[in-house]
Amino acid sequence: MKTFEIKTFAIEFDSIDELNKEDRMLLKKAKEAHKSAYAPYSQYYVGAAVLLDNGVVVTGNNQENVANPSGLCAERVAVFAASANYPGVPIKAIAITAHAKNFEITTPVTPCGACRQVLAEYAELYNSKIRTILMGETGKIYVIESISGLLPLMFQAKELKRNKS
Ligand code: THU
Repeated sequence: MKTFEIKTFAIEFDSIDELNKEDRMLLKKAKEAHKSAYAPYSQYYVGAAVLLDNGVVVTGNNQENVANPSGLCAERVAVFAASANYPGVPIKAIAITAHAKNFEITTPVTPCGACRQVLAEYAELYNSKIRTILMGETGKIYVIESISGLLPLMFQAKELKRNKS
């Protein structure tokens, strides 16, 4: 038996002005997108913006439902809309942010496990890393350059295609 370490890396920025032009643009689109969230139950309004390889940006926000599991996170709304409308176009990056009605979000908003798994699917499909830009309302910004940094030991489609030896 042995214990081993799994390392992931994030790049931290103090302000949006430190980001490169593309990341800044995408984060601004995510900030804009949170305004259309339908989140009457949590009052936590998440915005996501997906940048495709063809330069198109597709946005999404969380859509809640009185029957709780019927709702969907902002990230999956954006990613599924991108795949539905631009099939075959790789996802280059995603920016995620949020606004809460009752408190200030001072740390980066991080995607839930299910959204990470969905991002991993498209990363594998298109062999793209998917850069992730995360921010709260104030505070630091995290950039994670590849989905494997967000979801180590991820389950991948290739696991279903192994040959018997
Ligand atoms: N939510 C997202 O949309 N994305 C995240 O990364 C975290 C959580 C939503 C789900 C729910 O509508 C609300 O935020 C509170 O959990």
